[in-house]
Amino acid sequence: MADAPTVTEQLASDAVRRHDPQVRGFASDNYAGVHPEILTALALANGGHQPAYGADVYTAHLQEVFRGHFGPRAEVFPVFNGTGANVTALQAVTERWGAVICAESAHIQVDECGAPERVGGLKLLTVPTPDGKLTPELIDRQAYGFDDEHRAQPQVVSITQTTELGTCYTPEEIKAICDHAHQLGMTVHLDGARIANAAASLDVPLARFTTEAGIDILSFGGTKNGLLLGECVVVLSPERVRAIDYLRKLSMQLASKMRFVSVQFEALLSGDLWLRGASHANAMARRLEHAVRGVEGVSVLRPVQSNAVFALLPREVSERLQKRYRFYFWDESTGEVRWMCSFDTTEADVDAFAAALEEEMRAQDHGPAAA
Ligand SMILES: Cc1ncc(COP(=O)(O)O)c(C=O)c1O
Repeated sequence: MADAPTVTEQLASDAVRRHDPQVRGFASDNYAGVHPEILTALALANGGHQPAYGADVYTAHLQEVFRGHFGPRAEVFPVFNGTGANVTALQAVTERWGAVICAESAHIQVDECGAPERVGGLKLLTVPTPDGKLTPELIDRQAYGFDDEHRAQPQVVSITQTTELGTCYTPEEIKAICDHAHQLGMTVHLDGARIANAAASLDVPLARFTTEAGIDILSFGGTKNGLLLGECVVVLSPERVRAIDYLRKLSMQLASKMRFVSVQFEALLSGDLWLRGASHANAMARRLEHAVRGVEGVSVLRPVQSNAVFALLPREVSERLQKRYRFYFWDESTGEVRWMCSFDTTEADVDAFAAALEEEMRAQDHGPAAA
């Protein structure tokens, strides 16, 4: 009698295959899979025993890898996810009465289920921005009441690079923010869930808009750039940061098998994988922008400076297109949609999507309502 198929043989069979690995959408860079080089690195780190909780050789080596990018004072703390990186980092630079100034559109404000407030116990002081970017002037709208015991004390400014709206701060803009915040006695945190896309977009080394610009602590994104899972908190000004090791554990972000988070970052950052993936994702977004700019009735609403395209088109067209490709409405009230590209988005994906969009626009123009 033939042996029964193994689980992996079953999963690989056409009858069971649960998803088509050739199908990609534009919903999120988190929808993408894992880069093959990362999978290889994971396999190489497997086997044998290594000390748990970050005392392994991969995590030790990662310190050097990050110092190569961020300078000799950098200290890296691998964590599970971006929300955890932000919440851990922000707690490490605030006191119990501290508050964090951020853009109204910041992920920490909009998309973390209140974790900074509930898990970190932090007050967020938000500022509306036209493009997701803070400026010294915008920071000043919340940077007041120092020494007033009635007000949560503004202790940190948190910016996102690239922003949730796909825009990218220049190194000079970040330096101006850091100089201003430091003059006021505040620390600066950078949410770098898409930090690689920023470096690719600016065509500068990572340190140029972080260490050299005055950033004190940052969350370094990996998952959106080809990792299976994992982000890092990177401390750039150790003198401003307290108890991060305790806070990481307290915030449920201390991985026992940390070698598998660390080796992914080694694979990402030792060579140019981080930059290849991010540059490609950005290029695909630019290609998409060019393809749809010419389509009548579609407007690209924001500068395309990373891997995101924000557009406005008739809601019914978006809804029909969503039956063919996954993507999200960014703003339900206006009908604005967001299209994200990833390290694995292909030119053919972009061209097919743009063609589908044109098709749906034509169907709209010539459909029953317009006839
Ligand atoms: C700007 C930004 N920060 C942080 C995160 C991290 O989120 P997660 O906790 O899902 O890894 C995301 C993910 O969407 C993000 O877009």
